[in-house]
Amino acid sequence: MSQKPYQINVVKPYLPPHAEYAAEVASIWDNRWVTNQGPKAQALEAKLGELFGLDHVLFHTNGTVVLQIALRVLGVTGEVITTPYSYVATTSSLLWENCRPVFVDIEGSTCGIDPSLIEAAITPQTQAIMATHVYGIPNDVHAIEAIAKKHNLKVIYDAAHAFGVKHEGKSLLEWGDLSTLSFHATKVFHTCEGGALICHDAETARQIALTRSFGHVGDENHYCLGINGKNSEFHAAMGLCNLRHLPEIIAGRKRVYDQYEQTIGQHPLVQRPVLLPETEYNYAYYPIFLPDEATVKRVQGGLNALGIGTRRYFYPSLNELPYLPADVAVQCPVSERLSRTVLSFPLYPDLTETEVSAIITETLTLLG
Ligand SMILES: Cc1ncc(COP(=O)(O)O)c(C=O)c1O
Repeated sequence: MSQKPYQINVVKPYLPPHAEYAAEVASIWDNRWVTNQGPKAQALEAKLGELFGLDHVLFHTNGTVVLQIALRVLGVTGEVITTPYSYVATTSSLLWENCRPVFVDIEGSTCGIDPSLIEAAITPQTQAIMATHVYGIPNDVHAIEAIAKKHNLKVIYDAAHAFGVKHEGKSLLEWGDLSTLSFHATKVFHTCEGGALICHDAETARQIALTRSFGHVGDENHYCLGINGKNSEFHAAMGLCNLRHLPEIIAGRKRVYDQYEQTIGQHPLVQRPVLLPETEYNYAYYPIFLPDEATVKRVQGGLNALGIGTRRYFYPSLNELPYLPADVAVQCPVSERLSRTVLSFPLYPDLTETEVSAIITETLTLLG
């Protein structure tokens, strides 16, 4: 069997030193507190709150259940204006909660929902806007807030990609009624599996904590309908370790991102999303947009043959999901074009300079 010249995966989870994780979990053998909001989960929530400058960060099992809980806690059951350009969980959580997704097309530059198209999609049944800060790039949060206030709508931001992103000098998570994070293994910060729900007042935080824990915590009273969204001490321990390494993780990502930006990003066939100067970025992804789908397939196939992984992240445009109810499907030309022409490159801190140079050289050769 012929060996491919490279073995470069598109994603590779960061892992802290083994001894550090072993030391972090050692106390679990003493206290046998394995799950149900133990001391490590509490410590992680406190440290994340400190990092973001926010009071209410609630640790959960993943970045999907938090979207579902967000809809439940806000009492959203009707139409939700949402983006077609995201990971499938943004749409599937709406369908799972029996809400009706109303897709509004995106802006080509930021890949976020296009605020100028939102008002035309609002009906008397509209209850909320659920938008994704795709690739960690902020939505037009001012415009969305103004529309939501005018029409009395709730705003949920799927901020799965936006860990640590600052906008206009403060955490991007300050915007919206609720924001959600994913701590999946491939994210900038991870707990293997995990997520968080961010809210802005103590009563909503209490409601979320109850909903995350079957609707009852610590006594025999059952306060509301709940689900199991709690995460374990072992996951929290991974988070506590990874948080200590966050500066080096982000610096490592930036190094790779900058190398791509100075080379692939300057190629005449390549377009890139636009990051505004008021954004302090987390270097979560490096997507490029190519002129057409045939070029994407040629470049991806060529890199794959050499052992270099890339991903069509995000494809398909979610308004084209095969299982959508027929009356939900609408056309979103910008999202459809971007999803057909996008290619995301490997981006993680332990990619070596030699590997990055190889990815760049092979990509530029394929682009011609
Ligand atoms: C935008 C977005 N939302 C939600 C999720 C779901 O997160 P999780 O995999 O933690 O459930 C992801 C995961 O990649 C995502 O990218």
